[in-house]
Amino acid sequence: MAANVLRFYLLLTFLPTVKMYTDLSRNCSFSNGGTKKGVDVDCSHGGFSTVPNNLPLNTTSLYLNNNKIKHLLNNQFVKLTRLKYLNLNFNPITDIHEKTFNHLYQLQELQLNGHHLNYSVQSIPDKVFKPLTSLKRLSIRSNVKYCRNHEQFTAMSKAFGYLVNLQHLSIDSWIIDKFNLGFSKLHNLQELDLSSINIDGIEFKCQIPYLTNTTFIVFQSIPISTINLKSCNFYKIDRDVFAPLLSLDNIVLTWAGVVNYFVPDFIATLHVFKNRTLKSVKLNHIRPLSRMLDVSGYPLSFDILLDICIEYLDLSYDKINMVDFSTFLTFPIPRLTKCLKHLDLSGNFITGRIKNMLNFYFLFPKFENLEYLDLSKQSIFKTNGVTRFHEVELSSYTLPINLPGKLRYLYLDGLIHRVGMVPIVNISGGSNMISLNMSYTTSTFSSKSKIFGLENLQILDFSYCNCRFIDQSFFDTFPNLTTLRLSNVNLDNDYFLNIGKRLFQPLKKLQILDLTKNLLSILPKDIFNGLTELKTISLSFNSLVSIPDFSTLVNLNNIYLSYNALATVDEQTRSTLDKLTSDKNPIHVSLFGNTFGCTCGSSSLLAWFYETRVDLDGRNYSCIDRMGKKTTTRLITNNYRALRLHCVSSTWLTTGVAGISSLLVALLAMFVFVKNKLKIKLILLRMIGRYIKPRRREEFLYDVCILYADDVYQWVCHDLRAELEDRRGLKLFIRHRDEIPGEDKPVELYNTMNSSWRVALILTPGFLASEFASTTMSMCLSFITMTTPNRLMLIMDSNMNIPTNIDFFLESVNEENIYRYGIINGGPDDPFFWNNIYHGITAANNNIDMIR
Ligand SMILES: *[C@@H]1O[C@H](CO)[C@@H](O)[C@H](O)[C@H]1NC(C)=O
Ligand SMILES: *[C@@H]1O[C@H](CO)[C@@H](O)[C@H](O)[C@H]1NC(C)=O
Ligand SMILES: *[C@@H]1O[C@H](CO)[C@@H](O)[C@H](O)[C@H]1NC(C)=O
Ligand SMILES: *[C@@H]1O[C@H](CO)[C@@H](O)[C@H](O)[C@H]1NC(C)=O
Ligand SMILES: *[C@@H]1O[C@H](CO)[C@@H](O)[C@H](O)[C@H]1NC(C)=O
Ligand SMILES: *[C@@H]1O[C@H](CO)[C@@H](O)[C@H](O)[C@H]1NC(C)=O
Ligand SMILES: *[C@@H]1O[C@H](CO)[C@@H](O)[C@H](O)[C@H]1NC(C)=O
Ligand SMILES: *[C@@H]1O[C@H](CO)[C@@H](O)[C@H](O)[C@H]1NC(C)=O
Ligand SMILES: *[C@@H]1O[C@H](CO)[C@@H](O)[C@H](O)[C@H]1NC(C)=O
Repeated sequence: MAANVLRFYLLLTFLPTVKMYTDLSRNCSFSNGGTKKGVDVDCSHGGFSTVPNNLPLNTTSLYLNNNKIKHLLNNQFVKLTRLKYLNLNFNPITDIHEKTFNHLYQLQELQLNGHHLNYSVQSIPDKVFKPLTSLKRLSIRSNVKYCRNHEQFTAMSKAFGYLVNLQHLSIDSWIIDKFNLGFSKLHNLQELDLSSINIDGIEFKCQIPYLTNTTFIVFQSIPISTINLKSCNFYKIDRDVFAPLLSLDNIVLTWAGVVNYFVPDFIATLHVFKNRTLKSVKLNHIRPLSRMLDVSGYPLSFDILLDICIEYLDLSYDKINMVDFSTFLTFPIPRLTKCLKHLDLSGNFITGRIKNMLNFYFLFPKFENLEYLDLSKQSIFKTNGVTRFHEVELSSYTLPINLPGKLRYLYLDGLIHRVGMVPIVNISGGSNMISLNMSYTTSTFSSKSKIFGLENLQILDFSYCNCRFIDQSFFDTFPNLTTLRLSNVNLDNDYFLNIGKRLFQPLKKLQILDLTKNLLSILPKDIFNGLTELKTISLSFNSLVSIPDFSTLVNLNNIYLSYNALATVDEQTRSTLDKLTSDKNPIHVSLFGNTFGCTCGSSSLLAWFYETRVDLDGRNYSCIDRMGKKTTTRLITNNYRALRLHCVSSTWLTTGVAGISSLLVALLAMFVFVKNKLKIKLILLRMIGRYIKPRRREEFLYDVCILYADDVYQWVCHDLRAELEDRRGLKLFIRHRDEIPGEDKPVELYNTMNSSWRVALILTPGFLASEFASTTMSMCLSFITMTTPNRLMLIMDSNMNIPTNIDFFLESVNEENIYRYGIINGGPDDPFFWNNIYHGITAANNNIDMIR
């Protein structure tokens, strides 16, 4: 009996403890506390409704966040005397009993966000924080709405007065318009955070309604250096609000809003710092809260700012529409000019005003500490005209520019609306420059443009400028570049094929090269040779038909080739990529947006897509199948047997007319969309004023370049040559006669087409079977749009039964430029045919509006 009673008793007392133990080990995790020489206990998301007891005595960090604790009871942490960090976030805590934190003498940080406290004396008793004499950081934020109760908060503020060592306080602010006397005891407070913050995805709003001249008055003798009012919305801010904060160094007002205040009203509150030093002022993204008052912009006045020594000043995205930069540079040089290290004015609508350019050149270096200057992304920027480079006489003029000697980052992207032609620029004071962004300035680089004085520059961005005529030695003065962005700079084949790899040769340290959105359909094979540090090459959004050689680029990680006109990835590139890639360091290659050929010749390519260890983007690309239909590589691979059967059985290369015409259809279909892309690009180029002047026939070396395969060699070299050259006096390019032996074939082909007024492609079965068919055709098609719509003529053996009801075929080449003739069978010598061809070749370009 007694034993039974005893057992019952034991059960009663130990059952909960045993349960606790299992919950503790099941729902908490333990890890070595690292430098704190104790145990980190993580009981977050554990389903606890009370603080578990039996926690290890040497616990130094305790995570109890996201549990169901409603009440914090007396002496709950009393054994955890070594606790330094306590996280009680996201518990529905309604009250904290007075002795809850007893013995937590070492606690340094308390997180108490997402609580349900109502700030009454019942919920936060006056002496509740008394034991926390070591507490340095306290965050107590909630989204619970109460009626505004001044009395409650006044009483409650006594509790905070005990936190004599507190350095960082983040506190609910929406019920206060004035901090009460209790706070005046926080003698060590350095940072007061009232901002809207995001903790674990939950937004806690700053809702302090008024900032008056008495709001912070209790902090008068407290060394607060940082005040954070990010994303606060006020009804009113008093000009003198910061006057009591005598030690303030950092002011954060990012995204702050006042009903009818603008940037200048915020700047006015800084008047109390005249003749003083501030480390940072973040006054960005300021906007009035009332939409009706939203005006188009405000002039930035320096009346107040100039007398404050601010190191870091952020005025970005403030709708500033006018800055008189000259005031920075008046005598005596203002404090602000001398102190600024970081100035951000990006994202405004600055139209600028530089009264005296000469002064500007001389005094710019007076920003003697400036390291970072961001003037980018202005919608409009005008000066009084003098700075516009294109008005400068180009001949031998050298434009001297003096930069502040410590400047490292200069962002001018999207600043000046039209820079125009860049002359020879000799920069002094640029030896510390690391990064220069001049993208979207529509600068034009001519063969004379040159920039001296930025020898240590590492990052350079000229995207959306015009580099069409940049000199091949331009980058010689930038030997330390690691990143070069030349996206959409109007670089095209002509450029690279003429100067080859010379342009990039000086850039031995280059790691990232961006050539996206240019007009490239072919690059010299060896263009990247020697750039062994290259890690990333972006060639997307061009019209590439072949891939340059990457075999020497041992550090390559990323190759972007998407949205080009690649019909295949050639054997050599495939093996190069396979060699460069390793399990540890797989090369990423993007190919999406190309349309590959899924014809009989491409089985090894399809297999490669499937098997290679190269990290391909999706391994499922659109392609044109043997019937000329658009499909995807995956689909073809899945039906691989069908493709093989077809290819083996129909002996497509030699006899099958059907096979040939379907290959033709496939090839043409692939390039129709490439052509349309070029069209759009040309329209865009025109819109921003980059005219591509159509050339006249006299400017070309040849009247017509004849593209053909060996199967019609006889006919071309005899009949056609005699008829057009001897009898009619045209100047022809004929491969067998004019080709320079040993040249790179695609490059040669390109050059020839480029120096010919017309291109005549003779389509025969032999041509379609030749290894260059796809390259040749894609190049031909890209030539149609790049220069004239009538440039390409197709001469077709009338025995080739090409289905004429193919829309895209007609779209690529105008019907009037297609000539049919019985070539192979040596049809009758038809003067009508030769006349037609002759007229086709010599016709003037009446269709100048090629992009309409
Ligand atoms: C913490 O205390 C437990 C016993 O209570 C001990 O096993 C453990 O080693 C201690 N850990 C540290 C880091 O002191
Ligand atoms: C511990 O977690 C389990 C499931 O993970 C849950 O069933 C149990 O109730 C939790 N313990 C406590 C004390 O809530
Ligand atoms: C505030 O919370 C305490 C403790 O939960 C409660 O006793 C009190 O009634 C609440 N006061 C108000 C005004 O809601
Ligand atoms: C605060 O401003 C009011 C008027 O706006 C003024 O009467 C009062 O003296 C000011 N208080 C302090 C402490 O500056
Ligand atoms: C700032 O200093 C200048 C002289 O250095 C003085 O004339 C001026 O009164 C001072 N302004 C303030 C607000 O202290
Ligand atoms: C650039 O200017 C400096 C002096 O201001 C001069 O020594 C140097 O030769 C100039 N460089 C060029 C390339 O004009
Ligand atoms: C240069 O500025 C543009 C436009 O603001 C930006 O997209 C680009 O990333 C910047 N370039 C670099 C290298 O940071
Ligand atoms: C820049 O290049 C020069 C010459 O190559 C070298 O002496 C200098 O140390 C480089 N500067 C940096 C910052 O790498
Ligand atoms: C390949 O892409 C096509 C079209 O985007 C899609 O329909 C198909 O399901 C994809 N195949 C695989 C295996 O992902």
